[in-house]
Amino acid sequence: MALLDAQHRAMTDLINDLHQAVDGGADPEVTGKLFSELVAVTVQHFATEEALFPEVHYPEADHHRAWHHKLRKELAVLASEVASGWRKVDTDLIDWLKGWFVNHVVVADRPFALAVRGAFPDASIRNQAL
Ligand SMILES: [Fe+2]
Ligand SMILES: [Fe+2]
Repeated sequence: MALLDAQHRAMTDLINDLHQAVDGGADPEVTGKLFSELVAVTVQHFATEEALFPEVHYPEADHHRAWHHKLRKELAVLASEVASGWRKVDTDLIDWLKGWFVNHVVVADRPFALAVRGAFPDASIRNQAL
């Protein structure tokens, strides 16, 4: 699962960078840019996972896809509010981001990771495939 792991790592790094930037009182232009990068990486990550659902015969695909869809909509609203300057990236937003990210990786992705392992039992093939 090299690609999925790399995407999760990129998302973690961006959330941490954003947290540091907010704590350091960075310019809204800087935090806005990091936030839109995070949204782009997240949207791409969800698409990567969803493309794999049928391939690995993931039984909870519909539920997981619906959950991604809800988050995508929330992120799109936030992204436009941040881009227009109406909303500033603040610690409340960072806390929300951390909350769903942990929930995503620890709760929602766990049965999916098991399905991926079941479909690609050999780790080297799995890493090539993903
Ligand atoms: Fe994920
Ligand atoms: Fe997911």
